[in-house]
Amino acid sequence: MAVPMKYKKMKDFRKYYSGNKTAPVLTIFVGGNHEAMNYLKDLYYGGWVAENIYFLGYSGVINIDGLRIAGVSGIHNGSDCKKGYFEDYPYDRSEIRSAFHTRQYEIMKLSLVKEPIDIFLSHDWPTVVGDLSDFRMLTRIKPFFKKDLQNHCLGSPFLSNLCDILQPRFWFAAHLHIHWEVDIEHKDRFGDHDGSRVTHFMSLDKPIINRGFMDILSIQSREKAKNEEIDNYKRLYSSMKKFCPSNFEVVSDVDAQSDSSMPEEAEGEGEFYKICLLLSYYLLKILPSFSTNMLINFSQLLD
Ligand SMILES: [Fe+2]
Repeated sequence: MAVPMKYKKMKDFRKYYSGNKTAPVLTIFVGGNHEAMNYLKDLYYGGWVAENIYFLGYSGVINIDGLRIAGVSGIHNGSDCKKGYFEDYPYDRSEIRSAFHTRQYEIMKLSLVKEPIDIFLSHDWPTVVGDLSDFRMLTRIKPFFKKDLQNHCLGSPFLSNLCDILQPRFWFAAHLHIHWEVDIEHKDRFGDHDGSRVTHFMSLDKPIINRGFMDILSIQSREKAKNEEIDNYKRLYSSMKKFCPSNFEVVSDVDAQSDSSMPEEAEGEGEFYKICLLLSYYLLKILPSFSTNMLINFSQLLD
């Protein structure tokens, strides 16, 4: 493990490894630059390092309840990235370090993934994050980033490329010991957004009190989010039917696109109501602070 001697202390991971303790929630991780790479290499393709703690491997993709999570281990090093895995046990001083350098091969493997990724995990940052960041603010907190930021080489250029190919909804990283967030905009290659797609990047700080080392996000799979949206849409349509004139039917785009039951004379009026309903629906989405109360009022109207 490549760490100064003062940090080489036996802490609590052995309790999880031996089964005396169990992680309270499913924990998924990638390797960084302070791992026991000789152990992680035994799980090159990923696997359970302890109950409820899963290593994504040197690179990998998993699917949890419809949520697709991909990741790559290690950090970027320009001279080792194009090499194979030449390290052999016992690792010497140089191999202890080269063992955690990300190989370009892992990036290329992930770049071939065709299905959309929801969450990407890396230890290193994609260099594009530095390029998109507020230079003055970032260098005020971390002055020693200045040279790398000016040279556009803070982090890994390969991860930047990969981010633009995979276009995950979220990208989580670490390594630079700062809580930092940036939105990365891409030209949508999946065709399910109008024009562009955004990756929300977030890096966490070191786990020290009063530092931003933890965040909690609620992320749904694309499938679930889509179904929920359709359910809301259907519910709103059916609820508003009672406010429409009795001589026409409100037609839902979702489940009755070819419904021919609407009388011709009412079509124009129906379209008007339909537009109103859509506007109401999107207004509810745009005004989150009011939406909960308004939705409750809507549901009371239904009952
Ligand atoms: Fe690190």
